Amino acid sequence: MPSATLPSVLAGLDPVPLDEIFALNRAFATDPASQKVSLGVGVYRTDDGKPWPLPVVEKAEKQLLDEGSLFRHEYSAIEGDVAFVEQARNLMFGFDRKTESPKEKEAKKRIASVQTVAGTGANHLGALFLKTHMKPKNVWLSNPSWANHLTIWEVAGVSYKTYPYYNAATRSLDFDGMMSALENEGQEGDIVLLHACAHNPTGLDPTKEQWKAIAELCERKKLFPFFDSAYQGFATGSVEDDAWAVRYFFENKPSMEMCVAQSFSKNFGLYGQRVGAFHYVLNVESTGLQEAVFSNLCNLIRGEFSMGPVGGSTIVKKVLTDDNLTSEWHDNLKTMSSRIISMRKALYDELTRLGTPGTWEHIVQQNGMFSYTGLTPGQVQSLKEKYHVYMLKSGRISISGLSKKNVTYVAQAIDDTVRNVS
Ligand code: LMR
Repeated sequence: MPSATLPSVLAGLDPVPLDEIFALNRAFATDPASQKVSLGVGVYRTDDGKPWPLPVVEKAEKQLLDEGSLFRHEYSAIEGDVAFVEQARNLMFGFDRKTESPKEKEAKKRIASVQTVAGTGANHLGALFLKTHMKPKNVWLSNPSWANHLTIWEVAGVSYKTYPYYNAATRSLDFDGMMSALENEGQEGDIVLLHACAHNPTGLDPTKEQWKAIAELCERKKLFPFFDSAYQGFATGSVEDDAWAVRYFFENKPSMEMCVAQSFSKNFGLYGQRVGAFHYVLNVESTGLQEAVFSNLCNLIRGEFSMGPVGGSTIVKKVLTDDNLTSEWHDNLKTMSSRIISMRKALYDELTRLGTPGTWEHIVQQNGMFSYTGLTPGQVQSLKEKYHVYMLKSGRISISGLSKKNVTYVAQAIDDTVRNVS
């Protein structure tokens, strides 16, 4: 007699909603309409709407293939490819690749760096590390933030609060709201998640003066900054400008500790390769802990995924250790950032020409991959159904999905929608 089937140990498990960004991507892929436009997921596209393997990446790939290293598929160290991790750190904190001043030598003792599974992996590793060893009460996320930040901190088991970030009426940064929430409600030891540049989803970044005030507040209230740097070089075309905030905190607040999650997905166009790094910055008095932080990070990595993947990080290392390739990479960054800036202007010009109700200056004022348009969820839905123009419910658009060919169509679709749908 077969025994009676028992209910699953998972009986009662509820499905969770699909990730909006990737669900939208799939809906777009299966939409047969020829005029469809994807303004959803944040990926770079050419003016023909195609992915753009960076020319410098293709050159590095070819060189690597020609070199035919027998070690190319071997295990790396648990902390990742050591030479890659060094370059990632140098890029983030502005250290010279070839020379090392005594000041830089000292500064490096404050940082424990490891390779991660891209930016998400870096955020996750940092969250897990802090949860385990610092035991924070709360993490403060901007409202709004990249939705995955919520998931990452939830998975790590740290409860989150949100600080105001966006003023819907003026479509600008709510700096006063942010500062007063952190000032009045932030508690010693709380983590504050900050987007290093090109805030996702609003495209609104603090000015340098505002960054200085945020640093001063964090220092005074003993809040713990956690930077997510996903767009270095991609936002403005300058790796220095896009790292300004991180470097300001690092250089000017030596008594503070902080974390930096670093992604190479956008700035190298290596989305599926999962290239990233995590840096824990110790305060200047605590450099003796560098080895302890590093070995504990390695312990978490070993237990989760053993080590980061080497395919993409080898390409990044190749580019960042060769002056000619590095300079070509900087040119590629300018190509991407200037196309995005020109598409912001093209959309703004079209909406202005059409006299679309509302103000649209924010589209040209925002920075990086995204614009927070101010379109309502009803308008977003209608744009998808009537015009096959895909964007997030929040009204976030990935500017990179615009091109000379489709910008008139998109502007007309927005114009018609804004006039007819509330
Ligand atoms: C986005 O926000 O669209 C990108 O960063 C892709 C992602 O992983 O969500």
